[in-house]
Amino acid sequence: MISYHGADTDFSLKGKTAIITGGAAGIGKATAEFFAKKGVNLVLADLNPQVDAIAKKLGGKNIGVPGNVCEGPYRKSVIDAAVKTFGGADILVNSAGIVALEKAESISEDFWDRTISINLTAGFRMAQVFGAYLIENKRPGSIVNMASQAGVIALDRHVAYCASKGGIISMTKVLALEWGKYGIRVNAVSPTVVLTELGHQAWDGPVGDAFKKEIPAERFAEPDEIAGIIAFLCSDAAAMITGHNLLADGGYTIK
Ligand SMILES: NC(=O)c1ccc[n+]([C@@H]2O[C@H](COP(=O)([O-])OP(=O)(O)OC[C@H]3O[C@@H](n4cnc5c(N)ncnc54)[C@H](O)[C@@H]3O)[C@@H](O)[C@H]2O)c1
Repeated sequence: MISYHGADTDFSLKGKTAIITGGAAGIGKATAEFFAKKGVNLVLADLNPQVDAIAKKLGGKNIGVPGNVCEGPYRKSVIDAAVKTFGGADILVNSAGIVALEKAESISEDFWDRTISINLTAGFRMAQVFGAYLIENKRPGSIVNMASQAGVIALDRHVAYCASKGGIISMTKVLALEWGKYGIRVNAVSPTVVLTELGHQAWDGPVGDAFKKEIPAERFAEPDEIAGIIAFLCSDAAAMITGHNLLADGGYTIK
């Protein structure tokens, strides 16, 4: 059961331990920086071999575990590292992901499989191993999965990405349904374009400028404002929010 701890007036996360996949760059890194300021212990999981140095720069006993979230033993080793360093973990942010664009009629098998494997399958498997750890140890916890506006609408040349993010939103709801009784909340965040490396790579230029004009807010998002939303979802202020897909799209999908 998801307990009521009283109204959360300071959105406190102090003393919690968070695992952040994709924590070496973009939204994951911005979330790590935000969490560090809130007194959260960090375990960053990323392909980037510098991830431990990136974590250490954030102070505390923070660590980074380099590796590939598509690999089962690696996912387990990330949980083990959190237990060894901090005595456990309370939060998982699934931010590792890729975007690559291709027309539906010519997308290769490899391209499709790679997108689904990193964005959807690895996200589920990471949540699965973390959820199993929480259930076994009778710990409440919070999981935030990075989805996208592309999970709720169609975008040109995004068929694999849209399918992966639609899958993440659906998977989020099922995990919330199954794990609510254990005090585990599972939510998704669906931004419009976020100006990370991935965001710049996909949307800098005239196509992005035209896209921006279609967003009621008339701008793209910054990584640290997505970090704030993730922090809110992990705090007790969001104790009754689970299975939700929080759109951070400047209003793009209301049309
Ligand atoms: N940037 C955007 O416009 C945007 C919009 C909506 C949703 N999202 C989603 O947010 C998440 C983060 O995006 P971002 O813009 O911060 O990306 P980014 O490219 O800036 O950072 C992604 C990080 O994930 C890591 N990573 C990638 N594959 C990995 C793997 N197999 N194992 C371990 N680490 C891996 C990379 O090394 C990198 O550090 C993604 O899931 C993305 O789909 C991004």
